[in-house]
Amino acid sequence: MNIFEALRVSHETQRTLADHLIKTQGNSQDRASLFNELKLELAAHAAAEERFFYVPLIAHDMTQEPSRHGIAEHHQMDKLVAQLETIDFSSAGWLTTARELQHKIHHHLEDEEQAVFQLAGKVLSEAEKLSLAKGYEGEFVSQRTKA
Ligand SMILES: [Fe+2]
Ligand SMILES: [Fe+2]
Repeated sequence: MNIFEALRVSHETQRTLADHLIKTQGNSQDRASLFNELKLELAAHAAAEERFFYVPLIAHDMTQEPSRHGIAEHHQMDKLVAQLETIDFSSAGWLTTARELQHKIHHHLEDEEQAVFQLAGKVLSEAEKLSLAKGYEGEFVSQRTKA
């Protein structure tokens, strides 16, 4: 598995969780567990992806700006997650903010898969694509089990 295939595994999980989350209602067990699962998935993925994808990409001119942009979007998603933690599950504002997060997630993943992956494919060697996948997977698992 290369780094792109490794990252896509969590991307699919994030899309599924976010799409299900915005279909939940009020103060339900479904909403609470999907939100918690999405929160852990996003945090583990962002931490591992920054270390084993964006940091190595920042070293190359062609991918420096897109890497900074990607990391900035991680912070924006973190803020939306933090906002959701302060709003009552049963309030209308919760769903509005959850929709904003779902939208942001789809946009961010699309951006990574369509734009960043193409550029990264040019600057990373084949050996790096494999070793970064191993590093990413190890870090992702350790982040998920730590949480
Ligand atoms: Fe990302
Ligand atoms: Fe990603």
